[in-house]
Amino acid sequence: MRFLCVNCSYIYDEALWDIAEGIEAGTSVDQIQEDILCPGCEGSFDEFAPIEDEVLYAESPENHNDTEREHIPYVLYQDHEKVEVSVGEEIHPISDDHRITGIYLIDEHGHIVEEVFIMPEEEPLAEFDVSGLDTFELRASCSKHGLWSTGLIQAKD
Ligand SMILES: [Fe+2]
Repeated sequence: MRFLCVNCSYIYDEALWDIAEGIEAGTSVDQIQEDILCPGCEGSFDEFAPIEDEVLYAESPENHNDTEREHIPYVLYQDHEKVEVSVGEEIHPISDDHRITGIYLIDEHGHIVEEVFIMPEEEPLAEFDVSGLDTFELRASCSKHGLWSTGLIQAKD
């Protein structure tokens, strides 16, 4: 998720962190509220608001274009307990300024069940526990191209 400091408009991306400001990889926004001042205004992060990213889906589920093939999570393996996923079907390129930053398991209500942050230079792969879910979505955020989703996936019996 991305968050906006309402005092100074600094944007904090949980999946990208802020290495320049000394915020380490994998730091959740809750930790920032407690331990770290806003890098923009040095105020506290108490008053910042979540930014809802637009979710992007394939235009045609049967026939993905090149961008969709690199960004939409791709199920490598699925059974009734777990799903293994890569981003995407053709694995997304990895560079400092353009990479996949996070992969998310989403429930049928659109809420995040589990998130995996992808570290710089790490391949965009994840494994999720899907036991107890009838349907779910997989989403991936790219540092350049936004937030992509598989659409609803049926769980296996
Ligand atoms: Fe991308």
